Amino acid sequence: MNEVIAADLTDIVLERYSRTPDPRLREILSSLIRHLHDFARDVNLTEDEWMVGIDFLTRTGQKCDDKRQEMILLSDNLGLSALVNTISANVPAGATETTVLGPFYVPSTPERQWGESVLLRPLGDDIPLIVHGRVLGPDGEHIPDATIEIWQTDSNGMYDIQDPDQPENNLRGHYRSRDDGQFLITSIRPTSYPIPVDGPVGELLNVTARHPWRPAHIHAVITAKGYNSLTTHLFDAEDEYLKEDVVFAVKESLIRAFTRIEDPAEAAKWGTTAPFWFLENDFHLTKAR
Ligand code: BEZ
Ligand code: FE
Repeated sequence: MNEVIAADLTDIVLERYSRTPDPRLREILSSLIRHLHDFARDVNLTEDEWMVGIDFLTRTGQKCDDKRQEMILLSDNLGLSALVNTISANVPAGATETTVLGPFYVPSTPERQWGESVLLRPLGDDIPLIVHGRVLGPDGEHIPDATIEIWQTDSNGMYDIQDPDQPENNLRGHYRSRDDGQFLITSIRPTSYPIPVDGPVGELLNVTARHPWRPAHIHAVITAKGYNSLTTHLFDAEDEYLKEDVVFAVKESLIRAFTRIEDPAEAAKWGTTAPFWFLENDFHLTKAR
């Protein structure tokens, strides 16, 4: 490769973009162009190789529809979603850490009442999970009327939107905190699951000898007036994939121990049946500026 011409070319391209009126867009595009050009020079990228890349990105886009977001999946698998989350989070001490949203979020899910189960099929071999906690502000204030949106996979490792056999909105919904900030969720204990591998991202995992597993978790998005919204997970402390999440999204502070309770009187207290899993978990929000 002619190094001088390639380096000049980068400068010429950067110059053409230098009149982008929006300063932030100008900064982002300039940096992207510089890094892309450096990358191509670094690996001596051939035209055939770049066509493979373009074909891969094209098919990743084409795989997307209203239920499948392969572009987010790609960003997640490259660790980019986790990196952007960490860079932009800036979570002060005491606040709940954030993590990735993932591609299976559905807005506007049904409201669930205090203690209502998000499991919309018979319990079968599962046992209930109770998650009780409070939504709190930075000064320990209890936040009323916060929305706690949750979603998780069923015990077959699939989200409702991946699995035509599940009722719509199975294992997802939103709760509201009471006047004292408390919420009460009934669900089942989540399981680890493989991300979808029947698309381009699956091919990427395959050729890079990577496994597709995410450690068991419950997703949560908490929103409350006057506070920053919080996108997070609750990870199961006993999961074998905690140290090797395929999308690099585990944070130590989000790992939780689920306690098994056999006592029927304790179950009745929470409006459930014994045995059940129990998790006490507060969400700590930050104030909106
Ligand atoms: C999820 O947890 O739903 C998820 C996150 C990133 C990629 C795939 C799935
Ligand atoms: Fe998930």
